[in-house]
Amino acid sequence: MLLMTSSESVIDVLRSAYLEELETVMNYRTNSIVLEGVRAQEIKESLEADIAEELGHAGELGQRLKQLDANPPGSAAFTAQQESLQPPEDSTDVLAVIDGVLDAEDGAISTYQQLVELAQAADDPVTEDLAVEILADEEAHRSEFRGLRKEYSGD
Ligand SMILES: [Fe+2]
Ligand SMILES: [Fe+2]
Repeated sequence: MLLMTSSESVIDVLRSAYLEELETVMNYRTNSIVLEGVRAQEIKESLEADIAEELGHAGELGQRLKQLDANPPGSAAFTAQQESLQPPEDSTDVLAVIDGVLDAEDGAISTYQQLVELAQAADDPVTEDLAVEILADEEAHRSEFRGLRKEYSGD
């Protein structure tokens, strides 16, 4: 097993969180375009608003990596993971997209919970602060889409 120092683990998770944010941007963008129908408008708008926030998160993570003398990765380091967030075959299947978003937000929440703990262990309060701040955004996103899920599965 490869043993990493705690600051190496922080850098490792910052890099994977960066790629995770960019995959989320890719899939929110695609789904916001693909979805159609009378039920889709509100979801399209929520996705649109979150794209800007997730892209902002990637920017903050990349800047933090730079401050730590590391760099954000390019696409060669990327492996797709968001299977449930692929655009649905039925472009009016709003619930499929909502469930995919909830998976993505759950994933982001566990990433930032892990980063908070690692940054604490590495005595890196600046990264810890950033992780807490982004974690709060992801919890807000999840809560928003949980509400939308209730609304859309009720009829
Ligand atoms: Fe994010
Ligand atoms: Fe999010």
